Amino acid sequence: MKTLTVAAESRKYQIHIGAGAVSMLPEVLTVKHAVIVTDGNIAQMYAARVMELLNDAGIASTLCVIPAGEQNKTLATVERLYHEFAAAEMNRRGVVIALGGGITGDIAGFAAATFMRGVQVVQIPTTIVAQVDSSVGGKTGVNLGEGKNLVGAFHQPSAVIADTDFLHTLPEREWRAGLAEVVKCYALGETAIAPLLAPHPTEENLEQLVALCCRLKARYVAEDERDTGARAALNFGHTFAHAIEKYYDYARYNHGEAVAIGMRLALEAGEKLGVTPTSTVLDVRAAIEQAGLDTSLELSPRELVPLMLGDKKNTSANISLVLLQDLGKPIVYEISPRELEELL
Ligand code: GLY
Repeated sequence: MKTLTVAAESRKYQIHIGAGAVSMLPEVLTVKHAVIVTDGNIAQMYAARVMELLNDAGIASTLCVIPAGEQNKTLATVERLYHEFAAAEMNRRGVVIALGGGITGDIAGFAAATFMRGVQVVQIPTTIVAQVDSSVGGKTGVNLGEGKNLVGAFHQPSAVIADTDFLHTLPEREWRAGLAEVVKCYALGETAIAPLLAPHPTEENLEQLVALCCRLKARYVAEDERDTGARAALNFGHTFAHAIEKYYDYARYNHGEAVAIGMRLALEAGEKLGVTPTSTVLDVRAAIEQAGLDTSLELSPRELVPLMLGDKKNTSANISLVLLQDLGKPIVYEISPRELEELL
């Protein structure tokens, strides 16, 4: 079991990582009433275990089940949760427990950030993407018809419990999605990740991989909690990825698959621009392959450019790309749409 600290400006908290870590839940709670938010799939597998842990510790809990899927990451789902929190007589001394993948964490975290102007949330991520990225750092929110994550709040959890036992029930595609974010952490400088990478890492390596990624994320969150500078680096591969997801209406590629392709395109763009040395391109490509990720894309990357213009990270009519000057040396590179089209 490993424990890391996230020293965000607004709150300092711990991440507990390892097989069986969920049994620490009662220890991280300082309150006597919890509302567990989870989706129907995770509820079936893990809600009883979490409720039993709470019950044994004398903590009353209420289960709120939300529908699974990105299409339900909406204000309507959050409003339903507010009503369920009120019915459960949740108050500021209560805690929301977000049990699930990134979508559940975002929705439950946002409901916690806004119910009664803010109640505590403990994140218990059950996917690799959520364990290595989305459960840490306090980004919460929902989608609007106009785009992803357009409504949200920074609301740091009071604790994160990343129990790697939960990962054993993940479908194959979820593994791949998660490993793309792990490769991203390698590219951003956690080089100890490379020897541990495999399409299905061993239990011991999995714990170490989650810990290495969380350590990197904790550093960025401590430096730039509200994402106004350095934290943008965590979007390596994501500007292309968001456009790929959007192009296929979120139906063909999941986020991680798109991130793997996006990293490949960002490496190629960086190399052509003279920013990314060939040795770095080869290093990251090798990590992508070692993780068993496919980076092929049928469409011409040029077709992605118009879709990249709506990205939240852009600060002007230009597109902001995260490129690598070396492993662990990301920069934000501003490029005009025309220049990018000519490059790709
Ligand atoms: N997932 C990127 C971030 O938390 O900033």
